[in-house]
Amino acid sequence: MEHRDFLAITDLSREEIQTIFSRARLHQESGPQAVLPGRSVVLLFEKASTRTRVSFEVGVARMGGHPVVLTPAGSQIARGEPLQDTARVLSGYCDCIVMRTFGHERVQEMAHWADVPVINALTDLLHPCQVLADCFTLQGRFGSLKGKRVAWIGDGNNMANSWINAASLLDFELALACPAGYEPDAGVMDAARAGGAKIILVRDPAEAVQGALAVNTDVWASMGQEEEARLRMEAFRDYAVTKSLMDRAAGEAVFMHCLPAHRGEEVTEEVLESGRSIIWEQAKNRLYVQEAVMAFLLQQREEMHI
Ligand code: CP
Ligand code: NVA
Repeated sequence: MEHRDFLAITDLSREEIQTIFSRARLHQESGPQAVLPGRSVVLLFEKASTRTRVSFEVGVARMGGHPVVLTPAGSQIARGEPLQDTARVLSGYCDCIVMRTFGHERVQEMAHWADVPVINALTDLLHPCQVLADCFTLQGRFGSLKGKRVAWIGDGNNMANSWINAASLLDFELALACPAGYEPDAGVMDAARAGGAKIILVRDPAEAVQGALAVNTDVWASMGQEEEARLRMEAFRDYAVTKSLMDRAAGEAVFMHCLPAHRGEEVTEEVLESGRSIIWEQAKNRLYVQEAVMAFLLQQREEMHI
């Protein structure tokens, strides 16, 4: 059956992002809309999660649907059942699949074989649900992001790549400061620049935060990179977000982090707990934006079959 997936922010148009934000705002202000009665959503997590797992599970329940959480260990996946089989079996039971995994090609494979919308709940390459919610948070505070500067400090990881995708659709300038060897994905960056996005890549964090209204960072070793942690700690030594770095950003600048955070590594306790930090608001908004994404994809599927 024809359907849309949400594997990357670039799967959406500018207009669709604003439609999703309008619904998210409605859920934030007036409570959830029961648009999933009788519907089931499988949440397949091949990596650890607190926020994504709970916000999706609660979100499905708040909209009148039934969430089913699946992990490789508790299913046949760890025993080697191929994704192409799992995808088609799950499609017979549920209306949407939310998947967190390692290689991006795994979520693409799931989407290829599934007959229902697939949502990327984080891969090694992208974290679209988090960054979409972060853009909703910023837009709620500052209005249109067009022409404004957002800074990214540290690892050119899945979060950085999704911020690059978002810059191409929300028309903000993205300034990234990354150490040599830890730049964002070249393909993601080239595609965004080819589409007219303003992506600035520098080495010096002070240069990236100049005039920025949001300063973002993330852990130095992502899930799956635990063995590189020591090496990375050395490479990122000059990339911590400190108060003095925040003071170089715009006067109204906020600090953002997808969490979990490592206090005293990528960000100081002082910044994380300061009045400029909007980390709890970011985490909370995951719920509303993901509810809106699920509602949007299920509505699209219905319209494709009228
Ligand atoms: N930010 C985020 O995705 O957190 P979890 O890993 O806890 O889901
Ligand atoms: N970059 C981090 C994000 C966690 C939400 C990771 O992939 O582990």
